[in-house]
Amino acid sequence: MTESATLREETAEDHPAVRELLTAAFERSGEAELVDALRNEGDLVLGCVAAVDGLIVGYAALSRVRAPFPALGLGPVAVAAAYRCKGVAGALLRWSLARAQNDQWRGVFVLGDSAFYGRFGFRPELAAGFSSPYACPRFMALALNGALPDKKGPVDYAPAFGRPCV
Ligand SMILES: CC(C)(COP(=O)(O)OP(=O)(O)OC[C@H]1O[C@@H](n2cnc3c(N)ncnc32)[C@H](O)[C@@H]1OP(=O)(O)O)[C@@H](O)C(=O)NCCC(=O)NCCS
Repeated sequence: MTESATLREETAEDHPAVRELLTAAFERSGEAELVDALRNEGDLVLGCVAAVDGLIVGYAALSRVRAPFPALGLGPVAVAAAYRCKGVAGALLRWSLARAQNDQWRGVFVLGDSAFYGRFGFRPELAAGFSSPYACPRFMALALNGALPDKKGPVDYAPAFGRPCV
C-alpha cells in the first residue's frame, strides 16, 4: 500500500478532497474547518497528502506555532477508513516531518496518543516544560535538527485552534 501511495504537498485542487476526507475521518466538520481557517489565515505551513491512484487517502497538517524557537504544530492527521492500518499515516508523517526537518524547523508539537506518535519520535517529556492550553501527558514534542533549543516557554497554536468545534 505505502509503496503505491504518493506523498506530496497539497495543491489548491486538493482542497475539496481534503475537506471531504477530514469530515469523513472525524465524523464531523470541525477539523476540515480548522484546516480551511489555517490556510486562509496563512498559518498552514505544510499540508501533506497521501494519494493512491489520484485519490486523496491521507492528510497531515503542520501549522505555525509561537514558541521560543521555530516550531510547528502537527494535526489534524487523518487517513480514509478504507486505507487504514496499511502504513499510510506512518509514511505520510515520516514524509511530512522530513520536510519540516529539511526546512530547518527545530521542533514539532502534537497532542495525541503517545503509542501512535511515539513511533515517530514524539515524547511527552520533551513537551512537559512548555506552557500551552494543551499541556497534559498527551502533549508531546519532537526535536528536529538537534536538541530542542529551549526546554520551557509558551507554545501558542495558531488562532484557528482556539475556536469551538476543534
Ligand atoms: C490515526 C490514523 C491517522 C492512523 O492512520 P493509519 O494509516 O491507519 O496508520 P498506520 O497504518 O500508519 O499505523 C497504524 C498503526 O497505528 C496504530 N494506531 C492507529 N490509530 C491509533 C491510535 N489512535 N492510537 C494508537 N495507535 C494507533 C495501529 O494500531 C497500527 O499499529 P501497528 O502498525 O503496530 O499495527 C487513522 O486511524 C485515522 O484517520 N483516524 C481518525 C482520525 C484521527 O483520530 N486522527 C488522529 C488524531 S489528529
